[in-house]
Amino acid sequence: MAEQKNILSETKDGILYLTINRESKLNALNFKILEELNNIFNEVNDNKSIRGVILTGAGEKAFVAGADINEISELNEVNARKFAEFGQEVFDNIESCHKPVIAVVNGYALGGGCEMAIACHMRIATRNAKFGQPEVNLGIIPGYGGTQRLTLLIGRTKATEILMTGEMLGAEEAKTLGLLNYVEETKDAAIAKAEEILHKIMAKAPLSIGMIIDCVNAVFVSDENGYQIEANSFARCVKSEDYREGTKAFLEKRKPNFKGE
Ligand code: COA
Repeated sequence: MAEQKNILSETKDGILYLTINRESKLNALNFKILEELNNIFNEVNDNKSIRGVILTGAGEKAFVAGADINEISELNEVNARKFAEFGQEVFDNIESCHKPVIAVVNGYALGGGCEMAIACHMRIATRNAKFGQPEVNLGIIPGYGGTQRLTLLIGRTKATEILMTGEMLGAEEAKTLGLLNYVEETKDAAIAKAEEILHKIMAKAPLSIGMIIDCVNAVFVSDENGYQIEANSFARCVKSEDYREGTKAFLEKRKPNFKGE
């Protein structure tokens, strides 16, 4: 596995452990990290020594607290579409990887973090995990596939509420909604649970596992156009005054004053 700077990686007993390593910014995803993730997942399929992947965030406080709002605050309509499409491509590479990918969600999984977790094949959270799509607080919408995957995963009723209110859900509620496979007390216990599941899967025929991933994904990509509508809508948001106000307010640590323009 090629050396990456912002993602720690280690392979042990057939499992690739990936840790988003930007703890001081709650592992917020900047372009560099997305690029590194893409490089890694482009290699994983062809690497026979890797039979499963565990993806987590450094520290105890956050899995990933979203896309990097500093980068988001500088977008225009043209590069916003590219920004969304690139994130969608990276998460699509995770979702279509032929090795099972389990997210160990250790704390905040917000915005792009929630979108990254739901692009993985399974999710195990620690009890302190919090899920949400708070993009509406910034005058934008999820752009990395969240409007599509969340709706398909938990259904329209709750997905619409989560996307529109921007409120966070705790681990137990997320599990009840079908967002999670398991909730464990600690990060170590969550990793141990992920290892237990991966070891069961590793005893099965690798081709069957890859085919199951393709077949399950086929259900999820039945409306591929939805991803394009998401990227276009994301790009339209960044033309608004509310987007400037929303991202500026976060960076200035104050409440936004939205005007609908
Ligand atoms: N992008 C960039 N920086 C981020 C970030 C993000 N998505 N999320 C957190 N950070 C940074 C903060 O700016 C802060 O940096 P600083 O120490 O240089 O000021 C650091 O991470 C710690 O975050 P802080 O807000 O001080 O922690 P908190 O415990 O008070 O709050 C959160 C935690 C997750 C509730 C809060 O950080 C937050 O709301 N983050 C943004 C979530 C979001 O909107 N994500 C979607 C983006 S599209």
